[in-house]
Amino acid sequence: MDKILVHGGRRLRGTVKISGSKNSALPILAATLLTKEPCTISRVPDLSDIHYMLTILSELGCEVERASGMVQIRAEKVKTHAPYDIVRKMRASVCILGPLLGREHRATVSLPGGCVIGDRPIDLHLRGFEALGASVKVSNGNVMILAPKLTGATISLRSTFGSTVLGTGNVMMAAVLADGQTIIDGAAEEPEVVDLANFLIAMGAKIDGAGTRRITIEGVKELHGAKHEVIPDRIEAGTFLVAGAISGDEVTVSRVNPEHLLAVTSPLREAGFHITVNGNKVSVSPGPKRRALKLDTIPYPGFPTDMQAQMCALLATTDGISVVSEHVFPNRFMHVAELKRMGANIDLQGPTAVITGVPKLSGAPVMASDLRASAALVLAGLQADGVTEVNRVYHIDRGYESIDEKLNELGAEIERVKA
Ligand code: EPU
Repeated sequence: MDKILVHGGRRLRGTVKISGSKNSALPILAATLLTKEPCTISRVPDLSDIHYMLTILSELGCEVERASGMVQIRAEKVKTHAPYDIVRKMRASVCILGPLLGREHRATVSLPGGCVIGDRPIDLHLRGFEALGASVKVSNGNVMILAPKLTGATISLRSTFGSTVLGTGNVMMAAVLADGQTIIDGAAEEPEVVDLANFLIAMGAKIDGAGTRRITIEGVKELHGAKHEVIPDRIEAGTFLVAGAISGDEVTVSRVNPEHLLAVTSPLREAGFHITVNGNKVSVSPGPKRRALKLDTIPYPGFPTDMQAQMCALLATTDGISVVSEHVFPNRFMHVAELKRMGANIDLQGPTAVITGVPKLSGAPVMASDLRASAALVLAGLQADGVTEVNRVYHIDRGYESIDEKLNELGAEIERVKA
């Protein structure tokens, strides 16, 4: 298994180009199942999760061609059964359910297993499909969904933890080919949902209100092929901004949508950093004094759960007491024990991390547990004395395109040791 060695203490300076969004690209690639005509998706990041999705689409019978960020998919004929060995590697494979149901009126997909960041059920997705007229059966680890006819309905996707991002996408993808009008109440407002809706609209779907809590869909008879460019990855951009805050003189992320980054740039400003926006570029540089923060993860436009671990790495060396509460995935704190091994002073109280800033972290061998936790450990390593050895880096390759090379271009000293 590859590992990453971070030599701490280097200052970062310069500009990094941000890739297309993983969490947009995954459901958009799945949505190509909705038409027999070819679709071309550009700015698709080169990540292992994307590779899994393309493998699933190929296994379902799609013709898939890929060349430097551009993917062409033609789903002339599709199978409706995705077996365990191809879907088990990635939880986001559940987003093939909606398009298969919409197009073929049936889908059998292995249920996603547990996940290190929490239980991650799909009850809301299934509730949405049932409201559209589908019957849902779970047996032998598979979820089987069947709908002789899909009929528009009013569906609420609200849960204790907010809405569901992939669930909103899934229901939207099934409803675009249903008879009549579907209203999704309590829809997720994330930019990735809007990006998916824009792709579906380019395919001929009638969708209104994406990006708000209420999405209205008028079903159409069929969809056609379309071209689409994926939006910039706001979490990758946020991660590099936090890297810049941790050990940068001035770090700029380019090819981003600054509005999508407000939930990260606002707390960085509050923490004492200078943030400047210039077109599609955002820069971070140190201010006179760093300040501790109180942060709560909540669905968009709130502070994202996908940035919580990275922000903990920053706050670990910020003077004062910071309080970080997780309201989306209450158990998503696997990075805390590893940060403590590096000298951080963090007291975990249920879904809340109380972080007392220490002057310095020290390098140590640490274990990546999930994608964002791994990124946080690399960021912690940038500011640590000595060498931080991050093991199990396959987690990081699921969601960051060449993070080591991009950080090195900014002045970091990171080695990837091949197993
Ligand atoms: N939930 C339910 N029932 C459901 C679905 C979700 O109770 O049927 C709960 C979840 O357990 C969680 C909350 O609702 O407490 C939100 O989960 P959501 O469904 O929104 O998560 P997701 O759509 O499965 C996406 C991203 C995650 C990101 C979350 C929240 C993709 C591929 N994944 O997951 O990204 O953390 O939204 O913003 O889009 C990551 O990139 O590292 C990552 C984990």
